[in-house]
Amino acid sequence: MTQHTTATEGLDALLDRIQNQNYTIGIVGLGYVGLPLMWTFHERQMPVLGFDIDTDKVDAIMAGRSYIKHLGEPMMRKLAESDLCGATTDFSRIPEADAVLLCVPTPLDEHREPDMSYVEGTVRTIAPYLRRGQLVILESTTYPGTTEELIIPLLEEISGLSAETDFYVAYSPEREDPGNVSFNTAKIPKVVGGHGADALRLACALYDTAIVQTVPVSDTSTAEAVKLTENIFRSVNIALVNELKVVFHAMGIDVHEVLDAAATKPFGFMKFTPGPGLGGHCIPIDPFYLTWKARQYDQNTRFIELAGEVNTDMPRYVLRRTIEALNALKKSVNGSRILLIGLAYKPNVDDDRESPTYKLMDLYTDMGAEVAYYDPYVPVIKPSREHGHWAGTPSVAWDEKTISDFDAVVIATDHSDVDYNALAHWSDCIIDTRNAMNGREGVRKGQVWKA
Ligand SMILES: NC(=O)c1ccc[n+]([C@@H]2O[C@H](COP(=O)([O-])OP(=O)(O)OC[C@H]3O[C@@H](n4cnc5c(N)ncnc54)[C@H](O)[C@@H]3O)[C@@H](O)[C@H]2O)c1
Repeated sequence: MTQHTTATEGLDALLDRIQNQNYTIGIVGLGYVGLPLMWTFHERQMPVLGFDIDTDKVDAIMAGRSYIKHLGEPMMRKLAESDLCGATTDFSRIPEADAVLLCVPTPLDEHREPDMSYVEGTVRTIAPYLRRGQLVILESTTYPGTTEELIIPLLEEISGLSAETDFYVAYSPEREDPGNVSFNTAKIPKVVGGHGADALRLACALYDTAIVQTVPVSDTSTAEAVKLTENIFRSVNIALVNELKVVFHAMGIDVHEVLDAAATKPFGFMKFTPGPGLGGHCIPIDPFYLTWKARQYDQNTRFIELAGEVNTDMPRYVLRRTIEALNALKKSVNGSRILLIGLAYKPNVDDDRESPTYKLMDLYTDMGAEVAYYDPYVPVIKPSREHGHWAGTPSVAWDEKTISDFDAVVIATDHSDVDYNALAHWSDCIIDTRNAMNGREGVRKGQVWKA
């Protein structure tokens, strides 16, 4: 790898390599975000080197084995067969990359405050190998100020190099929507904020080689704020339709019919869909990154907190509706067998992080029910910090004998390959949080309870 003596030389050489599509990209963190990103650059025939601390993921990539169901075996095989693609746990290979993209988790800790340990750990791991003329881009979702206050000082301190003169730093939020067949990583415009004009130029040039559009903004904090704004917008609007669901139900009005009709307005309305609560690695978590940061500025985030309250209460609303449904059959939750359909937090993916289905399983169990789940995407529950007590539980089989044996079936996630018409024939009591039974043949009066 060529070493450059001045900042200008380093900048020109890197820009030249990027614009001539003659660069190597390093991706750190090969999960739901990093793996599709790897594929995106690979599709542009760029050499990609993936880094992860998880040897299972690295081995799977090298062997062409899929570990994220919706990404599929054919894609993984192509990555494994490509001479341009590799994955490693050896971070001393960081200098091989011209640009290093960081896609590691940013969860909340037990006090519901930002857990920056993964980001910080990653920066500490790569910093000793940082070389002159490299571009580092953080893609993880985080609070405004992270790049300037945490990433750059750490990189400079450990590497002994200086940002803007020796190396370049940018922030570009990942907007990946796993399982979305219309918009993959390459088709979603990329917002980019640079630490200085040179970093912005380099980062935009880089994404321009692989992604449909780049949207430059003033600085890294603005780019960090863009991502949080998008997810807060979702969280608040989901809370609103969840609240409307409860209110309209009390009035005998079907919220889904209301929302479908409202969505015909060609301007000024955007449809959000109610559900059993928030799930996934983003919407339940990201808003609280801003809440935490806002406190440092003596600012309140009342919309965020209220949305969190409404959405967090949804599993309890589903429980109340389940009690009503069982009561109509002269049954109680205590002693009933309850099946939940969909462990993943959204349809057609295998991601069960923060899934409200777990909350429901706990609520029903606490009330004395015997609980099981069916999810074609999650054959068995993997060990995790939050849901360790469910680890090893397998999905039940999908057949009439198994399903009809449950006192109640709760549709928590509406995977499209579940046979809801069959369900209408197999179960007498269906609690539907997704409107999945709407219009299904064979649905009987009093059988489906919208929740
Ligand atoms: N999942 C999504 O849909 C989505 C969408 C947009 C943004 N994001 C954001 O992207 C970031 C990554 O999310 P994800 O869903 O891909 O997470 P993930 O858990 O699926 O993947 C993260 C990967 O990082 C690895 N990792 C952890 N610590 C590491 C370290 N020190 N060095 C190297 N690798 C390390 C993990 O082993 C894992 O493979 C988060 O900030 C998230 O909020 C996620």
